[in-house]
Formats: sequence, structure tokens, C-alpha cells
Amino acid sequence: MSSAGFPEGFVWGVSTSAYQIEGATSADGRLPSIWDTFSADRAEACDHYHRYAEDVRLMKDLGMAAYRFSVSWARVFPQGDGKPNAAGLDFYDRLLDELGDAGITPYATLYHWDLPQALEDRGGWPSRDTARHFADYAAAVHERLGDRVDTWFTLNEPWVAAFLGYGSGSHAPGRTSAAEAFRSAHHMLLGHGLATQALRAAGAARVGAVLNLSPVMTPAQVSDFDRPLSDEDAEAVRRIDALANRQFLEPMLRGSHPAELLPIVERNGGLGHVRDGDLQTIAQPLDLLGVNYYTPLVVQAQPSELADPAWPGSEGVLFCTVPTAVTAMGWPIVPGGLSLLLRRLSHDHPDLDLMITENGADFVDVVTGDDIHDVERISFIEEHLRALRAAVEEGARVRGYLVWTLLDNLEWSDGYRRKFGLVHVDFATQRRRPKDSALWYRDVIRRNGLAETRPRRPTLETVAARAGVSRATVSRVVNGESSVSPEVRAGVLRAVNELGYVPNAAARSLVTRRTNAIALVLSVPRQGGDALTAAVVQYVTSLLEGAGKQITLMLADTAESHRRIVAHVEARLVDGVVLLPPDRADTLAERLSRTGVPVVLLGKPAIASLVPYVDVDNAAGAAAATEHLLALGRRRIGMVCGPMDLVTVQDRLAGHRAALQKAGLTPHLALAGDLTRASGAAATLRLLSDSPSLDAVFAATDQLAIGVLRAARELGRRVPEDLAVVGFDDVDAASATTPGLTTVRVPVADQALALARLLLSRLEGRHTTSVVLPARLVVRESA
Ligand code: FCB
Repeated sequence: MSSAGFPEGFVWGVSTSAYQIEGATSADGRLPSIWDTFSADRAEACDHYHRYAEDVRLMKDLGMAAYRFSVSWARVFPQGDGKPNAAGLDFYDRLLDELGDAGITPYATLYHWDLPQALEDRGGWPSRDTARHFADYAAAVHERLGDRVDTWFTLNEPWVAAFLGYGSGSHAPGRTSAAEAFRSAHHMLLGHGLATQALRAAGAARVGAVLNLSPVMTPAQVSDFDRPLSDEDAEAVRRIDALANRQFLEPMLRGSHPAELLPIVERNGGLGHVRDGDLQTIAQPLDLLGVNYYTPLVVQAQPSELADPAWPGSEGVLFCTVPTAVTAMGWPIVPGGLSLLLRRLSHDHPDLDLMITENGADFVDVVTGDDIHDVERISFIEEHLRALRAAVEEGARVRGYLVWTLLDNLEWSDGYRRKFGLVHVDFATQRRRPKDSALWYRDVIRRNGLAETRPRRPTLETVAARAGVSRATVSRVVNGESSVSPEVRAGVLRAVNELGYVPNAAARSLVTRRTNAIALVLSVPRQGGDALTAAVVQYVTSLLEGAGKQITLMLADTAESHRRIVAHVEARLVDGVVLLPPDRADTLAERLSRTGVPVVLLGKPAIASLVPYVDVDNAAGAAAATEHLLALGRRRIGMVCGPMDLVTVQDRLAGHRAALQKAGLTPHLALAGDLTRASGAAATLRLLSDSPSLDAVFAATDQLAIGVLRAARELGRRVPEDLAVVGFDDVDAASATTPGLTTVRVPVADQALALARLLLSRLEGRHTTSVVLPARLVVRESA
């Protein structure tokens, strides 16, 4: 094995899943799965059901040796059980023949989260019968396809299916019960055991399962894996490791339960569903363990924390975001986590063969003409392959690596906005275009490893030379300045396209002189964002000062101050700018970005722009708040909105609407003129006099929600009995209201850290994309 090569026979390929690419959800007798019912998105996905031949050809052209796909249970047994639907199985027949002709080895996954809705209606995974139906389904699929499939994976990521599907409810079927989540996890494991027995009895060559595994660590360990832990942190790490990893590894591979798990399950619905003999059934010998690795889990002990709904039993543990580079999902990029994980698996299960069945990243792809120069995805995969290779060299028995994923697709609850594909899909036309990462991966496969040296990326100089102009002219074109003639511009853009040049932060400006000063520009007022502003000032300052920068604080409160700030930046008196823009439309961000000096923003700007920003997922937070009310049985839910020109309010309203729509309900809205408590109270009085039968109110911010509580008291409505109330922000006062306010927590410190990190990346000339952090529901007495 050369210094960048992989062992002979190492298997290279890609993974996909049925629901995410197939489309054709009612073709040839297929009936809905839980994802058809749950998702608000168009279901045609990549129309792979009709375009599979083209997709196989693509894989062949890219040199793939292996293809992991999943079978849709709802195609094979539309009602979940009974007589198999031959027409549904025919599709996989055609697919396998095509793969066979292309010389690509199929790896079939039987369950990638798409339970037939008919089985959910009969109890879903919390019901033990589902495990038995799963084994029957596995046998039926094997009977029809077993002559062409050697390797079978029973389940994909049962943690996600059980705890996001039945615990937090952010995935289908959207139930929110800790007890049901634990029951589901056990029945999935049981289904795995029974299906493995059935497959072996039928003569399957190799049977395995796919788990999402993540090393669990504290923030300090992200940069130093060996860092010793306090007793409290060590306990937090062990507990989350038991929930995330060992809950599945130990029953499957050792026939036992991790000690930390049982008391947690006992407290959350009990262990009545675990029967004698189940563990023996689950612990069937495995030929191959599929490992999906994206990012580590970063936690620390924090006594006041409530359990996260996706992690019942996580009381007293804080899930942290860390100041490292992240993908567009907000997932920290920690390639070393993969070596760590593989080292541990090899140590704990030395005889087990492993395969990386998923690894990849969502980035915002820049499409230039016909090309997609996704340099970030290439770096991501390359760094993970280096980490993988290091583990293999130390003896980890990893037999192959499959990228997630072939095509941009339907990313579950996130819909079409996530881009994980090596191949770009235009969803209006279904046209496929390989991104640079696909072509780069083809070369990796060809040479069975990475190139010894990294290819040099084209620079500003290369483009200038090719176009026959100066660096300054290239920079002007890249920055969209109008002072360049159309012919020169066309010539530069041609060179940019031909060379696959991606302008980075450094090249966007021609700054050669470093000042080591950073401007922190505050616009006032930010609506109710005082705590956030304070945190940003504190964290951004200390982090950037730690990196040797000097901070200049500037106030952007008048037109004159805007002019002064722009002039200051244009004069290159600073290397970069952190801007806390006002909530409403304002052109300062755009004017600053045109100076060529790197700028980052706090909060999605009101005017769409290319300047990267840090924000929280307001829409998802509002959807979670609304889904929580729905899960409590509330059906007549009103919303107190703030002024609609505020981007945050728009996003929160969108999330609220989407959640109601999914439940077949319509919104009842009242607009508050501003974000004060008084406006919240006034809007509530209007809302309740228009629709007196409302049994819940979601308010766009906590201040408004406190106004809702006040109005409810005035009207003699009891909270939560008559009216459940949920806010957004988790301001300090939210925990001090009577009753305590259920709300959505905005991770203030994390936003500040992300902002500082984003600016540092830009100063280093790294490619950066905006960061959207998750917001999390905090349940108190008001709902
Ligand atoms: C994994 C899933 C896969 C895809 C990637 C991004 O958890 O198995 O379907 O959603 O994440």
C-alpha cells in the first residue's frame, strides 16, 4: 500500500435510499410509507424509478465498483404484509440487471426508514408484530432478488428511525414519546435478528446492519482527543455513548444491554417489551457492520439541562456546538473522529469486518455555467479518506467506502435544500450533472487511493494569465464591479470556467497588507436581541483577540456613520468585518462586501446576498414548537406574529404554517405592531375575540408570549389547561413567568462562536458558507 493508497480489493462506491431518490410513489401498486404521509415536500425526488438506467450508467462512467441502495417496503408489501406485490419487486429486478451489466456490485438495505403507512396504522415500530413482518418482508425480497445480491443490510441507522421518528418527532411518523422510542429501538433490533435468521435460512451470502456511529466527546476533546475529563463530563460522555452507540452495538454484537441504558429505559416506560430470548435472537453472527460517520457528538455535563426529546435520559447533559469548520448542515467537520471510531470498533470487536457505508457532506454548491466546482466536498471526502487510511494502516478491517450520496436528493425533513450529491440534479428538469467531486472521486477509484500530492487549485494569477488581464481586473470581475467592459468580462469568465476557479475570500480582495484589526459593527436597535448582542461582543472579541486581532467597535446608527464605516473599510484599515445588521432592509452589508474585505453577518439579512451569515433555524424551531402543541392534542392553534418585515418573524411564521399544514390545519394569525409585551397582549385579545375557541397560542418571541400570558390572565383563561402558550428565544424572563414559559432556545453563545469562526475561516482564505444552527424546544409548564 503506497503512502496514499488503499489495500487491494478495497471497495469504492456510493449509497442512496429508496424514499430519497425513487419518486413514483404510487406506481405499480405502491402505497404510502410513513414518509409520504409525514413529508410536506413533493415526492418525485430524483425520479430514479424511471431514470435508474441513466443513473447506473452515470455510476459506471464514474468507475463505481459498489452501489448500496435500499428497497422500499411499501413497494413490496403495500399493506405491510400479505402477498408480495410482484410489480413492485420488478423494479429492483430491472435495477439489478442493469447493475449486473455495468459490473457494479449491489449492496441492498432492507429498511431505510420508510415503513409502510399501513403498518404504522397498526402500531408501527412500538408494536412487536412489526419486527415479525419485517422478517417476512426480508425473506420475500431475498426470494426474488437473492440470486443477484450477495450482501444484505437489514436496518439503516435504527437510532435515527426510533428516536427522531418516535422520540423528538422530527422524522416520520412524527410521534413524540420517549417510551415509544425505546420500544421502537428494541423492536427494530429484534426485527434485525429475525430478518438475519430468515436471510441466512434462505442462503444469503453475507448479512450485516448499518449504524450511525459517532464518537462522543467534550468540546475540549474535539481538538485533543486524549484530553482527560472531569468525573461529571466522563459520566455525560458515557451515558450519551450508551444511548447513541452501544444501545445498538452491544445487543447486536454481544447479546447484552449497556449497563447505563437499562435504568433509563426503566424510567421511560419500563422494560416490559423486552422478552426472554430477545437478546439471543438479536445477536446473530454478523458478516459485516456498516458504519455511517458524519460528525462526532459533542457534550458536556450541565446539571440544569433538561433531557432533549431525541435523547430521553440525557438530563444534565448539554449538546454543544464547537468552534470548528462546519458543513452547511452545521455539522462540525472532524475527520479524525472517523479514525477514533474505527480504532475503537477494531479494539472492541477485533474479528468484525467493517465498511464505511455513508460519509459525505452538504455544502451550498456554486454552479458556474455547466460546472459545479464543489471544492469543499472534495476536501471533506479527501480529509476523511486520509483519516480512514490511517485507521486501515493500524489494522482496522475496513473493506470499503461508500460516499453519501450519488445524487442531490430529498433529504428527509429538510427537503430539497440539502445538497449531498456527487452529482447535481436540477429538480425542474431532472438533468444530472457530475460535480467536480464526482470526477475527483472517479480518479480516487481509478488509482485505488488519493493522489500523493494535492492538486494545485487555480489561483487568481492563473486566471489572469489565461485571460491576459491583470489580477486587479480578475478581482473586479469576480466582485461584480461594473467598471469592466463586457468583452473583458466575458474573457475573464471564460477563463474562470475553463480553469474551474473558485474565488475564495482572500482572492476576492487584493489585500496584501494586514492590519490585524477587525471591525465589529453594531447596528441599533436589534429587536429584542440584547442578550445576543452582548454575547457576540463578548465571545467574538475574546476569540478574535485570542487569534491576535484587535477589535474596533463601530456603531452603525445613522447614514453618516454608515458612510464613515464604509470609508474606514475601503481604506483597508481593517482585515475583516463582523456585522450585526439591523432587522430591517439596509444596504450596509452589501456596501461593505463590495470593498472586497471579508464580511460576516449575524442573522440572515433582509436582502438576499452572498455575504455569509450565522443564524438559527427559525423555521424548524417554530415547527417544533407547533408540533409540540399538536402532540399535546391542541388542534385550534393561533399565532401572535411580530412585524412581518422582520426576517426572523417571517421564518418563524413559515415553520408554524408548515407544521399546521402537515397536520391538515389552517393558521389563525394576529399581527403585533412591535415586539413588546404590550403588543403581544393586545394582539392576543384580538386573536381570542376573533377565534374564542383557540386552545393554544404560539408567539413569535418570548416578549410577545409574556404578553399572551398577561392577556390570558385578564380573560380568565387558565394556562395551560384552557390555553397552552409557547414562545421563542428562551430569554431569561421565560423561566421566571408563571407558569414557566415553554419556548424555543436560541443558542446565543454558539452563534457568537460560529460568527468568530466564520470570520477566521474567511481571513485564512477558506471557502465558507452560511451557518444555520439548530434551535431546541425547552418544555416548561405553559405547554
Ligand atoms: C444519514 C441517512 C441518509 C442521509 C444522510 C445525510 O443519517 O442515513 O439517508 O439522510 O444521513
